[in-house]
Amino acid sequence: MSLSNSETTIIGAIKNRWSARSFSEQAIAKNDLLTIIEAGTWAFSAMNEQPWQVIAAHKGTETYNKILSTLMPGNTPWAQHAAAFIVTIVRTTLSKDGITANGTAEHDLGAFNATMAIQGSAMGIITHPMGGFDKNKTKEIFNLSETQKPMAVIALGYLDSVDKLPEPYKTRELSPRVRKPINEIILGHE
Ligand SMILES: Cc1cc2nc3c(=O)[nH]c(=O)nc-3n(C[C@H](O)[C@H](O)[C@H](O)COP(=O)(O)O)c2cc1C
Repeated sequence: MSLSNSETTIIGAIKNRWSARSFSEQAIAKNDLLTIIEAGTWAFSAMNEQPWQVIAAHKGTETYNKILSTLMPGNTPWAQHAAAFIVTIVRTTLSKDGITANGTAEHDLGAFNATMAIQGSAMGIITHPMGGFDKNKTKEIFNLSETQKPMAVIALGYLDSVDKLPEPYKTRELSPRVRKPINEIILGHE
């Protein structure tokens, strides 16, 4: 099965998005960060619950430093240069009563995150998601409730030279992006 149409048909903002690690010193304008967050809100969600919440912070702020302090040691060396962070949080229960579990909340937060990433890509802004952070510490620092679950910290910024990165990040940055061929993931297509 030859199913690779990607060169011709996939839009640039998707094809060109990647989780880069080398951030320049350029700040992200407040409005641009808001645009990326607002773009995320146009993602689909079951029952239009929109179970996403964020904490956003620009470099140089107290909130930025708090978020930085939650990152796992493997992420800090490169992520500390990000121009901004967005912590994405999922509300795990339905808004109608705040008790019933929302079975698709995490799915929908992923859609929100992906939509922000595509908007960022279209704006020339890197969005690098991280699961490698201390979620309990995040809950504590930001006084999150039982039903607010931090899922990712996204590092944002503008791309800089790969030479700025220490190893092993430099090698990772230079490695080609690979994907499973789609005939491996399509279980049926008639
Ligand atoms: C939920 C999630 C958690 C991730 N956690 C980390 C992380 O802690 N550190 C990191 O460097 N990259 C992390 N990544 C980035 C992935 O490694 C990256 O998306 C994947 O290798 C594909 O590369 P691409 O985004 O450049 O296409 C994470 C991505 C997702 C979606």
